[in-house]
Amino acid sequence: MSNEKIDRATLTFGDRSVELPVVTGTEGECALDISHLREKTKLVTLDPGLGNTASCFSKITYIDGERGILRYRGIPIEKLVEKVMFIDVAYLLVHGVLPTEEERHNFSQLLNFNSLMHEDMRHFFDLFPHDAHPMHILSTMINAMAAFYPNVDSKSLVENIDQATARVISIVRTMAAFVYKKSIGEPVVYPRHDLSYCANFLNMMFDSPVKPYQIRPETVRLLNILFILHADHEQNCSTTAVRVIGSAQVNLYATISAGISALSGPLHGGANQAVIEMLRTIQEDGDVDKFIKMAKDKSNPFRLMGFGHRVYKIYDPRASIIRRECEQYLKTIHYSDPLLDVAHRIEEAALKDPYFIDHHLYPNVDFYSGILYRAMGIPENMFTAMFALARLPGWVAHWQEMIGSQTKITRPRQVYVGKPLQTSDVFASKNPLLI
Ligand code: CMC
Repeated sequence: MSNEKIDRATLTFGDRSVELPVVTGTEGECALDISHLREKTKLVTLDPGLGNTASCFSKITYIDGERGILRYRGIPIEKLVEKVMFIDVAYLLVHGVLPTEEERHNFSQLLNFNSLMHEDMRHFFDLFPHDAHPMHILSTMINAMAAFYPNVDSKSLVENIDQATARVISIVRTMAAFVYKKSIGEPVVYPRHDLSYCANFLNMMFDSPVKPYQIRPETVRLLNILFILHADHEQNCSTTAVRVIGSAQVNLYATISAGISALSGPLHGGANQAVIEMLRTIQEDGDVDKFIKMAKDKSNPFRLMGFGHRVYKIYDPRASIIRRECEQYLKTIHYSDPLLDVAHRIEEAALKDPYFIDHHLYPNVDFYSGILYRAMGIPENMFTAMFALARLPGWVAHWQEMIGSQTKITRPRQVYVGKPLQTSDVFASKNPLLI
């Protein structure tokens, strides 16, 4: 193909032809603009799962799934995990640039001021069953935030985006730690003004009046890395949920609650918990090859959890970093996890298997993250909540971008394949109420 820029495409349908504009993104990716197709031709497009649909223009995150590239606002994630903290990345996603010293200080202060949830909300935690899944509790609690912080129309939230971001990411962190404390019957630990974002979370999770928690700098560093790697991933399922719901101009909290619900599914963020459950089952069974075979068997619903991705067709760049950090961290804290060995054996077997090679199935972000969370003492049912905490700035950034650029409600079409018009004799004396 020549380098000549193509800005039109011709679609022929029967004896008709229509010209469609072609738009080109920063990195050269072209898209056919079909927004006026129906108006001109009565045709709609069909793309279940939206695997071939760009649903918006976005300036936030760039992924090249063929080359394993992930950048936030143009900055490679490999650089971000080396050089900055999660709160810098939160600021970057929302503002488009990393904060200056002063901006960072102000944002940290906002995080601190907004870390307490309304005290009345604390009582809600008493009403959930103690073994309720944290993701179910979190989505409910976040939705309830609109009732406690009223006057949160889109305009006011966008105008004070730092405040809106800080409130969401700081309060939800407190909520997540409270969910855990409640589930184990311990008193909640309140946030501290003298701790950084990730250290504060670990302290709220693990400090206790009878056993003070020693915050290890290497654990704080690692949590920052994990949170940075999960902070955004362009138009994934939960972010799309946030954008779709936000397009009806509902408040930010309702959209985040929808994002949390979408993320909880095992095909999305719920995969990190499902991976550990799978690794344990394989460890107990001992036969890795049997599970590789099962994953390839189309009559068996079993899939290798933590493998495969809609966009990445090579190794997920987040998974490479997590795998490396996992090995280092386990060594540093002198912790050995037999599930890491099982994970290595699965990866090794899958990467040389023609089925996985042909289907471009590689470990994704969820394959090794659970092993790290386990090593940090995070309980398994909290894994997806960890993903959710990290994804909050991404959701806020996409919601803000959508509010600022999309004036239309998201409302796709369908191809109706149900019954044609039914005649009136379908009612023939079948329903006594009609007689
Ligand atoms: N194990 C075995 N086969 C698989 C797997 C897997 N993990 N993933 C995809 N395939 C096969 C699938 O059976 C299909 O085969 P065929 O074309 O022969 O029928 C082909 O690969 C394409 O699969 P798909 O389901 O059409 O692909 P998708 O892009 O719709 O789904 C996915 C992507 C992530 C949902 C899927 O790979 C999957 O279910 N993976 C396991 C769950 C998982 O790890 N999810 C976390 C995703 S990454 C983080 C996140 O999004 O939160």
